[in-house]
Formats: sequence, structure tokens, C-alpha cells
Amino acid sequence: MTINNDIKEIFLTEEEIQNRVSEIAADLEKKYEGRNPLVICVLKGGAMFMMDIVKHMNIPLEIDFMAVQSYAGTQSQGVVKILKDLDTDISDRDIIVVEDILDTGITLDYLIGLLRQRNPKSVCVCALLVKEKKDPSVQLRNYTIDYEGFTIRDEFVVGYGLDYNQSYRNLPYIGVLKEEVYNK
Ligand code: IMP
Ligand code: MG
Repeated sequence: MTINNDIKEIFLTEEEIQNRVSEIAADLEKKYEGRNPLVICVLKGGAMFMMDIVKHMNIPLEIDFMAVQSYAGTQSQGVVKILKDLDTDISDRDIIVVEDILDTGITLDYLIGLLRQRNPKSVCVCALLVKEKKDPSVQLRNYTIDYEGFTIRDEFVVGYGLDYNQSYRNLPYIGVLKEEVYNK
């Protein structure tokens, strides 16, 4: 039994993801040459995306990690908790924030607001996936997403860093789980 058996449909193949990652990395490499940017991974979902991006950026840069937890339930909507903060002082630094997915937008909105208060020289936002909402006003986007990997339809996806109950992050592609997996 492999984790592939739990996937109903593949949204983005490994090749499609890798091609897009290379494009984004090439743009970032050009833009940040000579600036020693700090690339910030939003754990855990952004880990694969961030690692693949920096592997393709052949310039001096630094990396750091941040872990946040968002409570999108009705009672505590908009509340985001920092589980792990950065080790690096970002004041006067060029930062690149790498996140897995923009769903409600609550997490990134909070995070970007918080990081801006620390006076970085510039902020660049990369999101691998953006979920397309029927009503776009439900998605917080109070900032620019500079690099968007793919727009996907509004469904729960796993793979390439994204999890369901902490599993499936290690799939090299992005897909949708079979219904029976949720009933296990
Ligand atoms: P937000 O709703 O934009 O704040 O997203 C919160 C977090 O939920 C994201 O950073 C992801 O880690 C996670 N998330 C949102 N949608 C999905 C999904 O379809 N699959 C897996 N994780 C998701
Ligand atoms: Mg995330």
C-alpha cells in the first residue's frame, strides 16, 4: 500500500511543478543578484517549495524558517499563532516569504503584517498555490503576491509540502484525496 493509492486526481504533476519553480527561481535570481536576500519558509507546507526555489538560485542568499498556526474556525477567525519565530533580524533586509497556499488568506495577511513591523528593506511574497474562490471578497489579499505558482480550484489538496493530518507532504505532485481517506 503506497500513499499514491489514496489519490483520486492529480492536479499538478511533478514536471509541471518543477518547471514553474525553475521559472520563479530564475526571476528571483535576476532580481536579487548582489542583495543577499533572506528567504523565509513558512513551515511546514512551504518547505519543499522553498528548498526547490533556493536550489535553483545561484546567488548568495540566506534562509530562515517560521512556523505559524491559523485557527480559521468560526469562533477564532483571523487568529494566527507563532509556533516558531525567525532566528534572523530582518530590519533593512530584502526578504522573500515562501508559502504553500493562499486559501482564506488569513495566515499570509497576518504574517506579512507582522514582518513589515520589523522594518525589512523590501518584502516579496511567493505562494505556490492560490485557491480560486467563487466570491473573491472572502479571500484576504491586503498585499501583493509577487510570485504565484498556480491558481487551482477551491478544493483541499495534498502533496509537495501540503498535508492532510500531517501525511502526504512527501508526494512530489499535488492532488486530491479519495473520499474514503477522510472516513478512515
Ligand atoms: P489560509 O486559509 O490562507 O490562512 O491558509 C492556512 C493554511 O492552511 C495554509 O498555509 C496551508 O498550510 C493550509 N491549507 C489551506 N488549504 C489547504 C489545502 O488545500 N491543503 C493543505 N493545506 C491547506
Ligand atoms: Mg501553510
